[in-house]
Amino acid sequence: MGSEEFPRIEPPAARAAAELVRGTTFDDFLLTPQRSVIVRRDPAAIDLSCRVSRRLTLRRPIVSANMDTVTRAPMAIVQAEEGGLGIIDRGFRSGDIQPQVREVEIVKRTQHGVIGDPYSVAPSAPVDEAAALMARSRVGTLVVVDERRRLQGLLTERDLRFVRGEGLRVADRMTPRDRLVVHEGQISPEEAERIMVERKIKKLPLVDREGRLLGLVTARDLVKQRRLPFATRDEQGRLRVGAAIGATGDYLERAGELIKAGVDVLVIDIAHGHSVVMDRAIGEVRKRFGDVELIAGNVGTAEGTKFLLDRGVDGIKVGIGPGGGCTTRMTTSFGVPQGQALVDCRLAADGSGVPLIADGGVKRHGALALALLFGGDCVMLGSAFAGTEETPGEVVHKSVLLPESQKTVKVPFKVLRGMASLEAIRDRLDVEDADLVELDAIGAEGMEISVPARGSARTIVRDMIKHLCSSISYGGAGSLRELREKFWASPADCLIKLSASSRRESYDR
Ligand code: XMP
Repeated sequence: MGSEEFPRIEPPAARAAAELVRGTTFDDFLLTPQRSVIVRRDPAAIDLSCRVSRRLTLRRPIVSANMDTVTRAPMAIVQAEEGGLGIIDRGFRSGDIQPQVREVEIVKRTQHGVIGDPYSVAPSAPVDEAAALMARSRVGTLVVVDERRRLQGLLTERDLRFVRGEGLRVADRMTPRDRLVVHEGQISPEEAERIMVERKIKKLPLVDREGRLLGLVTARDLVKQRRLPFATRDEQGRLRVGAAIGATGDYLERAGELIKAGVDVLVIDIAHGHSVVMDRAIGEVRKRFGDVELIAGNVGTAEGTKFLLDRGVDGIKVGIGPGGGCTTRMTTSFGVPQGQALVDCRLAADGSGVPLIADGGVKRHGALALALLFGGDCVMLGSAFAGTEETPGEVVHKSVLLPESQKTVKVPFKVLRGMASLEAIRDRLDVEDADLVELDAIGAEGMEISVPARGSARTIVRDMIKHLCSSISYGGAGSLRELREKFWASPADCLIKLSASSRRESYDR
């Protein structure tokens, strides 16, 4: 069994854990410290690999939530660069599919590996046109191709330096194909690096048998790859990204367009995934798109998990109501405390090979370890990233009264809102056309809150990972897999259920 897999669970441990976590969540527990076996809590040396879906492995167990105030391309790029994954939300108006597709394309084009469709120019184009394209696209190298996309040469910024445009064509300044090192067929980043070192080149165009352009590898992108050793990448070295679709309306068309754009995993995300709506949606997606990597949710019970497993999904999102921007439990009195939900769903999924994503309720870094022990293969976070630079939305300044000095200061805020908040729903509908009755009929299950603007989500991810490594050390393990094995060997020996006063001592600061 690979280190990224959740260990199997023996029946006595299953019974003990289910009993212990009934009606509880993360803040109801501490973990008993064990004899530490690692000398340095070095995140670079501790194996944290896990799976987010049947075929997708992550080196860091963190996924940013598909919320329209959390994950768009900038967040997804940071998450994938740091070894996790971002799921682009579907908070765009119904029928308005291209904006979401563009976000996926931006992530896939973030150049770390083989550039599948590099910017190109015709040999007969004026050099001024090439210079304008370089400025517009902010790339320093254009691939020169003829009308049948056969490679003719490369044109770099340096070829245009001090050149006056009059009458000059791209062909006059480019390095022609016969002076280039060219590779026939696709290539791995490792092989490209070997050729670049051997031939002392910085750019390697890829062509097919007929000489048509397949892609371009640049030394700069390979260097970037090296600096991000844990990044989540596809076979071509591009960053991976997921995208959410609904279960009604335009979801099939949306799925088709997202797949065309190269999305790595689709997430059918609805508040109550154990439903006839979900049943139909999974069936339709499978019928139309075969074995596309597919996560579905949310569920919070063993029955809900089995329901999704029976329908052949590749990953399951667990969490009914623990989310920071969520009011489901208050408005409906339905939900499952996240500790119990994770254990119940884990026991139901045991041996299925389908990963679980612990979605919501991780407010402090320490809860990450509990979510990963109770049942999450990885953890989805929304409010933990709220207010960071990578979240969409404007910064607004609000006046805040400082109690010590009674002075008012302007503090920058960003908005976090639940995807089922009235504000988010209203934005998704085309308000011009929306039937007013339709808006009135909505029972919101989320809220909008202002969060102080802060730095990059990258810092938060790195801090969380450091703290997770510390948890592994306290747990007497050397890797995430080992921590889970130790926990599930005897949950009753690891979990300390807190009294009201010990909870205050632990978490009320
Ligand atoms: P955290 O606690 O990390 O949770 O902010 C993120 C998750 O919260 C869920 N979510 C909602 N749940 N109503 C809900 O019932 C909502 O409006 C809402 N918006 C987000 C979602 O599962 C997300 O990943």
